Amino acid sequence: MTFNPLEHRGIPLDKQLRNWRELDVSPIDPDNADPYTRCRIITMNGIEVEALLFSHQFARHCPDMEVKRKLAEVRYLEQQQQKSVNWLLPGVSSALETTIAYEQVAVDLTAWVARMEPDPYLKQAYQFGVLEDFDHLYRYSNLYEMVQHRKAEKIVDGLTEVIPGRPTKYHHRHPHDNVREPYDRNTAEPISKLHALTIMSAEQQTMNFYMNVGPEYMEPIARQLYQEIGLIEEEHVTHYESLVDPGETWWERLVNHEYNECYLYYSFMETESDPRIKAIWELHLNMELEHLRVACDLMRQHDGRQPEEVVAPELPQPVTFEPNKAYLRELLDTQIDLTTLGTGYVREAHERFERMQEEIHGGEEPPSERVIDMHREQFGDDYRLSTEGEHPVERLREQHAERS
Ligand SMILES: [Fe+2]
Ligand SMILES: [Fe+2]
Ligand SMILES: [Fe+2]
Ligand SMILES: [Fe+2]
Repeated sequence: MTFNPLEHRGIPLDKQLRNWRELDVSPIDPDNADPYTRCRIITMNGIEVEALLFSHQFARHCPDMEVKRKLAEVRYLEQQQQKSVNWLLPGVSSALETTIAYEQVAVDLTAWVARMEPDPYLKQAYQFGVLEDFDHLYRYSNLYEMVQHRKAEKIVDGLTEVIPGRPTKYHHRHPHDNVREPYDRNTAEPISKLHALTIMSAEQQTMNFYMNVGPEYMEPIARQLYQEIGLIEEEHVTHYESLVDPGETWWERLVNHEYNECYLYYSFMETESDPRIKAIWELHLNMELEHLRVACDLMRQHDGRQPEEVVAPELPQPVTFEPNKAYLRELLDTQIDLTTLGTGYVREAHERFERMQEEIHGGEEPPSERVIDMHREQFGDDYRLSTEGEHPVERLREQHAERS
């Protein structure tokens, strides 16, 4: 079954506007919803926010009044999509519960993309990054039990393990070492462009979320942990955004953005377990098909090129949320010691990395270590959700024996 979004007509733009009643979606039930439904909601919010911010940047660089008006029109509809998607999240969930779900998205989406990515350099970038968000999930889960006296297994539901990844304190690299080489827009596979855009968008929304919710906590350790991990999400945005070829024209980027929205809504429509949410993915797909058609028209008019030259003639295999436990364990086993040097990866701590580490830690343990120590003091051990046996890395196995 193939689906070519360039060949389907969606809902005409002047039929896409929603009234208050249509915007007033009821949220998912936090206790009974499929955790991967929540992951799909968070992913699509990141994608819609990227669509908005990209469109604003485009408009700010665009002198043509006709184009500016078209961008404003589509962007208003993207805003309504963002509102209906993000408002599916239940108000009863705390920021920390949503945070844990964000890291679950980062883990299972990035792991899936890493498995599917055909380009070895891009694949390595995802494999490298996923071990860090995997560790964030563990740190925040320990914080969660301390401040809310609840366990992260209620949120991730055993689909994603919660065990140490590459320790968060080693994620603080010199900014120069976070810049990767971009793919080449003329030779990259279409799927590679979609992957890069998707993960960049997800990391960008995570960065934005932590910078805003972090100071809402009263507990000093919570405030500190959000600062620390918020700064790592900045590194992740730098890491992933640098994979995208900066030589793409604005028109080409617009087409890629709309195409990617079609791809993801189509994917989630195909894989959604909740029929009510599935209907929203289907509705939004039908809106995006028209956004894509508008973007393609703009490209033909202003870029003198055919959209068929930049996007794939059919959608790739649907993006799927599913457990990646064995894959993650293999990465833990083989890539935990990696850091970056320039645009590549190394196993040894180099001078620039050591200097950054010294300066940022200032001779103390960072919040990501202290949160685990505090959890051990309060509960006797750290919080883990391990479903597949002992940790593949010996030094990161549980330390029960030292307690007595
Ligand atoms: Fe959209
Ligand atoms: Fe993270
Ligand atoms: Fe991240
Ligand atoms: Fe769109």
